[in-house]
Order: sequence, then C-alpha cells, then structure tokens
Amino acid sequence: MSAASRLALAVLISGRGSNMAAIAHACQTDQIHARIARVIADRPEAGGIALAHKLGLETELVAFRAYAGQAAFEQALATAIDASGAQLVVLAGFMRILSSQFAQRYAGAMLNIHPALLPKFRGLHTHERALQARESMHGASVHFVTGELDAGPVILQARVPVMPGDTPDSLSARVQRHEHIIYPKVIGWIAARRLRLAGDVVYFDDRPLREPLLDSQGELAP
Ligand code: GRF
Repeated sequence: MSAASRLALAVLISGRGSNMAAIAHACQTDQIHARIARVIADRPEAGGIALAHKLGLETELVAFRAYAGQAAFEQALATAIDASGAQLVVLAGFMRILSSQFAQRYAGAMLNIHPALLPKFRGLHTHERALQARESMHGASVHFVTGELDAGPVILQARVPVMPGDTPDSLSARVQRHEHIIYPKVIGWIAARRLRLAGDVVYFDDRPLREPLLDSQGELAP
C-alpha cells in the first residue's frame, strides 16, 4: 500500500520520546497503517528530537518561549501541524496544557496518553500519587483530547500491578512498557477506521464504548 494511504500523524513531544519511538516502530514495521509526518517539540532540550532524527523522522521545534503567550504559541503549533499534512495529532509526553479552542480545532483528531487509570490521578506526578494512595493497580490510558485536562473520553487502558517496594521510577517504567503497546494500538484502530469520536461518545467498530477497553497482555476485554 502506498505511503499516501497511511494515516499521517503529527507527534508532539516535550521529553525523551519513548512513546514517539514506539509509534514510529509500529509504523515502520507495518503493524499499523500510519506514518509519522512530523515530530514537533515545544522545547529544544527534548531528548526525543535526537531520537526522532535517528529514526529518520522530520522534526520541527515550536519553542514555547519563542512566542509572546499561549495564543501565539498555539497558532504556531497549529500552523506546524497543518503544514505537515497530519490527520491525527498525537500528544506523546507533551507537557503543555492546551486551550479548549485548540482542543476544539482538533476535536476527534487528537489523542493523549496519560500515565494513570483515568479518571483517577489527572494531572502530574501520577506514580507518586498512586503509591501514596496505596493503589494495588495502576496503569495508563489513551484518550481523545477535549478542552478539560485529562478528561476526554478514554479509549483503551492498560492495568499494571503495583508491587511491594515500588518507587515512582520502578512503577513508571512498568507502566511505560504498556504505554508503548496501547498507544500504537489505538492509532492503528483509527488508521483502520475502527474508532471514531462523535460528540463525546467513542465508537469502536460502530458500537458506542460504554466503558474504556482494557488491554491485558495483548488481549482485549470486554
Ligand atoms: C509518558 O509516561 C506519558 O504517559 C506521559 O508522559 C510520558 C512521556 O514519556 N504523558 P516519553 O517522552 O514518551 O518517553
């Protein structure tokens, strides 16, 4: 199949880019019918920029500090996304809160991955907070982005056990291994037109999702 028929992605990063690399790998090995049109970083220090180059991906820096404020930054970001020809915006460790106008502009066409079992632990420091709350299970969620932070409809979650003696780092590493599985999987479903958002309802294979899908060791349930 031609490159043009692949779902074009703009992957937005602020950090080391391990999710971006997992998505790139899924594209490059034909596990999903998508391609990364551009990796966009909001800070020059993002380690993921060098990683993206190594993977042969086009990158662009839209540095937050180069703009007068949130509105000017978001305008530049939208210009970069649209110029890349992206059909889906993939937030992959993108550490900027986006306005509801921006979310509206890409409604149904913007995903995020959050390192917690939403609606638990929205926001930052999720692993520390899960440990403090003595959760026995933790995990990650892929969701559509809406105007409210980490509150858009959840598509797929991975549940991960919290082990005795876990630290935020050990828990984060365990969760990330699952992030790298579930994020490409959801993007693959969108590329295959199996998944869409209508209003605030997610449809999977034309059926409304009443609760998030659960990825357990590669098997979908329910
Ligand atoms: C991930 O844990 C993701 O859930 C969160 O930010 C982190 C990004 O990691 N949103 P990486 O840059 O993909 O390695």
